Amino acid sequence: MSKITPKEYHSKTEDVVTVRSALIKDAKALVDLQFSVAQEGKYMVTEAEEFNLTKSEEKETIEQHSQQPGQLYLVAEINNTVVGFVEFENGNRRRTSHSGILSIFVGREWRGKGIGSFLLQELLDWAANELLIEKVTLAVFSTNRSAIALYKKFGFQEEGRCPKDMKLASGKYIDSVLMYKFVKKM
Ligand SMILES: CC(C)(COP(=O)(O)OP(=O)(O)OC[C@H]1O[C@@H](n2cnc3c(N)ncnc32)[C@H](O)[C@@H]1OP(=O)(O)O)[C@@H](O)C(=O)NCCC(=O)NCCS
Repeated sequence: MSKITPKEYHSKTEDVVTVRSALIKDAKALVDLQFSVAQEGKYMVTEAEEFNLTKSEEKETIEQHSQQPGQLYLVAEINNTVVGFVEFENGNRRRTSHSGILSIFVGREWRGKGIGSFLLQELLDWAANELLIEKVTLAVFSTNRSAIALYKKFGFQEEGRCPKDMKLASGKYIDSVLMYKFVKKM
């Protein structure tokens, strides 16, 4: 079971932000949030026209994350509205189960208020206490300055770069930056 005890934070604009484990009832809000970020066109591999995630697939993801010891799905909520999430999934083989990859999204109008930091803090606290997990990793577009700043703030380091990893409709290329953080004292 991967679940956390809900925790309250105060955003930079004094909103009460609850970070808690995702529940089945959050599926629609989580699909909508991912679609809205896809529509922005700047941060995701999936383009808005390709976005086909369904509510029932999202429900399965939430269920699976709550049951697997190396997975976690957290939401940030303000006034009962989901405004962001972080999702983490470890490798599914014995040799990779100590390491996993995260995704984090905050709704456009809620960014820059501390919510991404609250989500990442809760994920890293959980990972530090989950025996299985030693390494948290991610991939980010080299153009995503605010996300890279967030990860560096939490001690993530660059472990590699995939040149021209993304090819945009315009013909422009973007590198992906791979980052990692060890969460146990070695
Ligand atoms: C990346 C993201 C999750 C950050 O969430 P957030 O709630 O805006 O983050 P925070 O307000 O906690 O800011 C965290 C840090 O990011 C940096 N940051 C935030 N906004 C920034 C901006 N506009 N420009 C540069 N750095 C910025 C700062 O270092 C900040 O730390 P500080 O507040 O202590 O100065 C959010 O911007 C987002 O969802 N973006 C779109 C989706 C995305 O890019 N996801 C990540 C894909 S790899």
